[in-house]
Amino acid sequence: MARWVIVGASRGIGLEMVRQLCARGEEVIAAVRKATPALEKTCAEVVEGVDVATEEGAARLARALGTRAVDALVHNAGVLKSDTLATLDFHEALRHYDVNALGPLRIVRALLANLREGAKVGIVTSRVGSLSDNTSGGNYAYRMSKAAANMAAKNLSIELAERGVAVAALHPGYVRTDMTQGRGNIEADVAARGLILRMDELDMDRTGAFWHAEGWEIPW
Ligand SMILES: NC(=O)c1ccc[n+]([C@@H]2O[C@H](COP(=O)([O-])OP(=O)(O)OC[C@H]3O[C@@H](n4cnc5c(N)ncnc54)[C@H](OP(=O)(O)O)[C@@H]3O)[C@@H](O)[C@H]2O)c1
Repeated sequence: MARWVIVGASRGIGLEMVRQLCARGEEVIAAVRKATPALEKTCAEVVEGVDVATEEGAARLARALGTRAVDALVHNAGVLKSDTLATLDFHEALRHYDVNALGPLRIVRALLANLREGAKVGIVTSRVGSLSDNTSGGNYAYRMSKAAANMAAKNLSIELAERGVAVAALHPGYVRTDMTQGRGNIEADVAARGLILRMDELDMDRTGAFWHAEGWEIPW
């Protein structure tokens, strides 16, 4: 049994990851802003008040963990509000950066003492954060924040290598959740299964990768 921490587990893909990890007998700690009835039905130890856009939120998770080692940390929390150049709201863009790009850094920094040799970190970014894969444009706030999240993952993989901690950027697929207003190609349980498989495969030989949940590397 390994100890997993899923950040952003109230609904959608994060909730599905918690369910599947519970089903295979892992110890799961679910970090959320506010618990949901669905999450409370799982095996997870729920830590509330974890707003990844605040240092206090990250510190709350660190306090709840105490000295416990974390084997696998998945930063799944994220926001999306679609925009175009005409509709882009700069305050909204800064919120995207705060949650999607700085959120994972706040969480990883707060949990550094819990991430010991052999630990793994998955940051759920997005394929739309890829520069070379961008053929459709739009979604400035989201794309730019996820590109920055990819850089955070890559940078962390370099800095944490000396501790023996592996880090990957992960794309779940186009998933039918609240974020996509129910649009997408797959359900959250399929995405969660793929993300868990990628976390299982992650090791120091593969650290610094940007993976699709299906298992192939996405160009940066
Ligand atoms: N769905 C897709 O097609 C798709 C594609 C590519 C990447 N992704 C990424 O996959 C991840 C999960 O997305 P989803 O589709 O499952 O979306 P979702 O259903 O909207 O869930 C988003 C999750 O993030 C949490 N969250 C948002 N802001 C937060 C904050 N400031 N602090 C802590 N938690 C916060 C939400 O918690 P609350 O309930 O408290 O709001 C919720 O648990 C996101 O990072 C998203 O960008 C999704």
